[in-house]
This record gives sequence, C-alpha cells and structure tokens, in this order.
Amino acid sequence: MNAISTSRWRIADALKVHADDATTTMPVIAYDFPTMDESVLIWDTGALRSIHGQTVTFKGWHVIWSLAVEKQDLTNQNIVSEWRNRNNSAFIGYWYSRDGVEWTWGGRLLQKTADLRPWEWSGGLVMRDESANTVDMFYTSCGYAGANETDFQSVISVSTGTIHADDKGVWFEGFDATTEMFQADGVNYANAEEDPYWDFRDPHPFINPADGKLYCLFEGNVAGMRGAFSISGPEMGPVPPGFEVGTGAQYGAAAIGIARLDSDYHAGDFTKWTMLPPLVTALGVNDQTERPHVVFKNGLTYLFTISHHSTYTGGLEGPDGVYGFVSDKGVFGPYRPLNASGLVLGNPSSAPYQTYSHFVDPDGYVQSFIDTVPAANNDPDNPAVYRIGGTLAPTVRIAFEGDRTFVTEVHGYGQIFAQAAWPVAATPDPRS
Ligand code: FRU
Repeated sequence: MNAISTSRWRIADALKVHADDATTTMPVIAYDFPTMDESVLIWDTGALRSIHGQTVTFKGWHVIWSLAVEKQDLTNQNIVSEWRNRNNSAFIGYWYSRDGVEWTWGGRLLQKTADLRPWEWSGGLVMRDESANTVDMFYTSCGYAGANETDFQSVISVSTGTIHADDKGVWFEGFDATTEMFQADGVNYANAEEDPYWDFRDPHPFINPADGKLYCLFEGNVAGMRGAFSISGPEMGPVPPGFEVGTGAQYGAAAIGIARLDSDYHAGDFTKWTMLPPLVTALGVNDQTERPHVVFKNGLTYLFTISHHSTYTGGLEGPDGVYGFVSDKGVFGPYRPLNASGLVLGNPSSAPYQTYSHFVDPDGYVQSFIDTVPAANNDPDNPAVYRIGGTLAPTVRIAFEGDRTFVTEVHGYGQIFAQAAWPVAATPDPRS
C-alpha cells in the first residue's frame, strides 16, 4: 500500500485556471494595510504546530515563525531593492501573541553558529510528539558556499531547541546545531548538475495517519536535464482539438517531493531518509511548486503548494497563489487537481503580487504575507507606485467540499487560529 503513483498537474487542467473567479480569489488588500512591526520585514510564515498538523498554543501563547530581515541590517535604505534581494539575507525569527492578532517580535531562532550556510529559507516549527517543550525547527539551509563560494547549495535541515514561556512572553533555547536531512539526489529529483535552476527546499514533515510513519514533503524538480523533457500526451491530458504545446513548455518541471524517515523520530534522530518518487509533477505546466503541505480532512488527503504566474511555462497562465490536489486513497495518491484546475486561492488581477506563500491549516484558515500592493490603477512593476508589504495579509478561510474549495471568510491581518493547546493528546503509536 506504500507505492506512489506520481500524479500529474496536466496542461489540460491548467487551461482551466482563471484569475478573478470569486470562489478562488484573495480579497483585494487595502493600500494602507497595517504592519506587524516597523523594525522587521517578514515573508513566509507558519504557526507552531504538532507533527499531526494541528496549530497549537504553548502555555496560552500563539507562536509563529517567519522568514525575516531586520530593517537595521539593511545595507542601503532603498527598501524596494532590499525587499527584492531579501532572500539573500533571510533568517528565521518568531513572533508571539496572546490573542493571535497582535504580535510581538521575538528575534532569531537558530544560533548563528549553527548556520552551515548563509541563508535560512522555509520549513516549519514543530512540537516533538510526547514531549513537554521540545521543538524541531525544519528549514532550508542554503546559499553560496563551498571553497570559492560560487556553488549554490540547498539542503533540507533541522535544528532542535526548547520552547519556554511565562506571563510576559515566549523564548527559545537550544537551536545550536544543524542536522542535514537530505539533498537532491539527481534520481528522484533534479540536482544542480541536471538543472542549474533546480529547487530543493521547504520541508514539511508530518505523520501519515495510515501507517504512523514520519514523511517529509518538499519543493523539488523532476529529475533529468533541464529543458530535455518531451511534453506529449500524458503531460497534456484531454486538451481541446488543435491544441499545440507552447514554446518553452519543456522548462516546466516542478515536483512535489516526499521522503520517509527511517531513523527514530521519537529520539530526535533525523539522519536516515529514503527518497521517494514525487507525489505530483507539473511537467509542461510550471517550474515551481513551493512550500507543499498536507491536510487530512473528511477522509480525503489535501495537498497544497504555492506557485507563481512567472513560473508557468508554454504560454500557460495563472495567478500567484496557492494550488491544491486531492486524493481519496491517502497521502501516496493518486491526486486530482482541486477545483479541476488546481487553483485554490490566487491574487486578483488588479493586484497580482499582493500576497504569496499561503499556508492552509486543517480548519481551512489560510495565512499569507503581503508582498506588494499597487496604488490604484498603477503598474506594480514600477516601484514608485506600489507599497512593500513585509507583513502578514488578512487570514482567509476556505471551505472544503470534496474536490472543490470555496473562499468563505475574511479575518484580521495576520490572525492565527489554533486548533489545540500543547500538549495535544498523544496519538497511538502503531508500532507499539
Ligand atoms: C516561497 C519561497 C520558498 C523559499 C523562500 C525563500 O516564498 O520561495 O520556497 O523557502 O521563499 O525566501
């Protein structure tokens, strides 16, 4: 029952993607949106959670992590270019809040001495099952490294610490060492030799309820030489008569990756993994499926991922936003695109870059960050006429109805809803 039948996000599915459908579109964000903290710019964000996916509070506090740059560390005061280059100085910091609405910035999580590479990219902050306060911080250790600092490296990694709280706030200890979990193998997922633009990041670990084992999703690309894929029948699906594959389609090779932990999670041993074939590939459709994550709901398995307008290939188009797939057979698939097209929540065409890095929780609350909000009727590529975000967007809620989703609620900026207080009742360990 463990076999993965890799599913495809096909050209015929993506042809059904339409921006501005009211059921799959983010609300327009006001130009005068509020910011969480003027001293820091943040983007990809996630709530403290259990390994089973519930968002949890700790001693009454809501806690979230964010990719961040502190404004005082910016080398020049040109906020637009600093924001565009933010990936090149990203670290992971945290926030805490009594109500999940007003956030206090707590600073960086990983000790600088634990960084194996210059940048920390996305991952997750996960309470260790059956522990009082052990936290595993999964992240992407990346940047230019090696002898001459010209090799881009991207390694899926973890660091372990402990969480503490009193009536004044939340703090962490530990996070003083990094364990490398796994890298692109060139067999199941493209590596740097195959694809100079390869993506390999954004770990999302979870326990599969069907077998009790720990798996980790991640962003990858289909193994093989960049641009050498043939895009034909299986990648196209049932396209309209006369349809021809567009120029450049062979550069779309995104893959939602998965690996299985073979060492002992409960002992905090994250060293032994088996790379498995992708759950979903987007050959011919899109070159990036980022931050994949999973929600188990109503007996179905929902797989979400974020993607960009700019990474569609072969003339296909779709908004920046969150896309999704559903399986009725569990995490290994097969999957069908949600809403027939795959689109779950995209930016409105009037503000195509207003939000990104959406994360869907088990109750359907979706948080994302504000990237750039255009002034009315202006060109978002002209820096003079848009406002940089660097703060959380309004949280929205989607309803799940089998293969379909609908946006149904809009909540406060950066509002986080928790499913449980830590510790959550331990789930039975099927090995015992
Ligand atoms: C998504 C993303 C992630 C990556 C991070 C880098 O917004 O591209 O894939 O971890 O941003 O900032």
